[in-house]
Amino acid sequence: MNGTRIHKTSEHWPNEGVTQVPYGLYDNSEIYARERERLFLGPTWNVLGFACEVPNPGDYKTTTIGDIPVVLVRGKDGSLKGFENRCSHRGSLLCLERFGNAKAFTCVYHAWSYDEDGNLVGVAFQNGVGGEGGMPDDFRREEHGLRRLKIASLSGLVFGSFDFGVPDLDDYLGPDIVARIRRVLPRPVKILGYYTQTLRNNWKLYAENVKDPYHASILHSFFTTFRVNRLSQQGGIIIDGDGAHHVSYSKLDRPNDSGHGDQEYEAENLRADKDDFGLKDPTILGGQDEFDDGITLQILTVFPGLVLQQVRNSLVLRQIMPRGVDRTDLIWTNYGFEDDDPELTDLRLLQANFIGPAGFISMEDGAVGEFVQRALPGTNGETSVVKMGGDAVASSASRVTEASIRGFWKTYRGIMDI
Ligand code: FES
Ligand SMILES: [Fe+2]
Repeated sequence: MNGTRIHKTSEHWPNEGVTQVPYGLYDNSEIYARERERLFLGPTWNVLGFACEVPNPGDYKTTTIGDIPVVLVRGKDGSLKGFENRCSHRGSLLCLERFGNAKAFTCVYHAWSYDEDGNLVGVAFQNGVGGEGGMPDDFRREEHGLRRLKIASLSGLVFGSFDFGVPDLDDYLGPDIVARIRRVLPRPVKILGYYTQTLRNNWKLYAENVKDPYHASILHSFFTTFRVNRLSQQGGIIIDGDGAHHVSYSKLDRPNDSGHGDQEYEAENLRADKDDFGLKDPTILGGQDEFDDGITLQILTVFPGLVLQQVRNSLVLRQIMPRGVDRTDLIWTNYGFEDDDPELTDLRLLQANFIGPAGFISMEDGAVGEFVQRALPGTNGETSVVKMGGDAVASSASRVTEASIRGFWKTYRGIMDI
C-alpha cells in the first residue's frame, strides 16, 4: 500500500513505488523484527547448503534462516530433514558445531534429547530422583518437539522453509531460474572450501548489491581493467515473473574483439578504464568454457538470501544472513564437481581469488554496503533513486539497469505488506 507508515510518521513508502526506497528500511529494528516474522518465518525458501555436505545418515549441518538457527540432518532413510536449532526446554542452542554426526541430538544444558525428526525422546530425571521432584504427571514429551522445516532440493542445493504452506520450490523459482540453477549444477558437487565474512551493514544492502549489474564494472576496477566484465559485453538480465529472483550474465570480451563500448567507458572517464595495465601472470584470467555456452559470468539470486555465482570457473554459493539491523554474515561456499580433473580444480581454486572478503573483484562490495550504512543517520525520511533503466521490473538485454533491484523491492513490499 502506498503511503503506509513504516516506523515514523515522517516515513512512508513513496507513491512512486519501487523507484524510490526509504533509507529507514536499513536501520529500523521494527522492520527487522517484521522481516523475521514475515520473510524468514514466512512463505519463502531459504538455502541451507548442499546435500553433499551431509552425505551419511546422522550427518548434520547448522546454519540459519534469516538469523534463526536451524539444523539440516540426513535421516536414517537417506532423506533430508530440518528443524529449529533451539531446545524446547529453556531455549539453548541444541547443536553447537557447524558440522557433525549424531544418533540423537542432546542438549548440553539439561540433556533433553531429540531424534532426527525433532521429536523429544528423552528428558533427564523426568521422574525425579528417589521419588522426589521430576516433571508433573501431565507432562507430555510429544508436545515439546522442535519446530520443523519443510525441505526441498534442486540439483543438490537444499532449501528449507518454516512455512509448510510455501509454494513448491519449482513454482517459487519459475522455469528460467530453475534452468539457470541447473546450468551451474549439472553434476554431483564437490565442496572446495568456505569463506565467511561479516558485513557491517543491513542485509538488504548486500541483496541490492548483487542484483546491481550497473555497479560491477565501475566499482570493481579489476573487472574492467582486465575485461572480465564490461557493460558493453554481450549479456543480459533475466527476472522471474514476480521480480523476486534474477540472473545477470555476460560473455567475455577478448582483446581485439569488436571494441564495442570501449568508447563509452572512455567518455565516462571511469577510473576502471586503464588499458595499459596488465598482469605479470595472467593465468587467473584463463578459463574453460565448461558449460558450452560462452557465458563467463552468471550472478543468480533467489529471494530472499541466496546468491549463486559463476565468475569464469569460480563457482560459489553465497548465503546472506542477517545478524542485526546493521550486521550481516556472508557465507561463501566454493564448489566444483566430483569428476573435475586436477587441472580444473586448480583453476577453480586460483579463480577463488576473484571473490570472497578479499577477492580482486568482490572486496569492494564489503565496503560499499558499510559506506551506505554509515551515511544513514542524516537521511531522515529520504529515499534512494532506483531509476536506471526506467521503472520496469522486466528482463532485458541491457545490464545498464536497476530492474532486478526494483524486483527485489516489489517482492519485499508484497510479503512485508508495506
Ligand atoms: S535448555 Fe536444553 S535441556 Fe534445558
Ligand atoms: Fe560488486
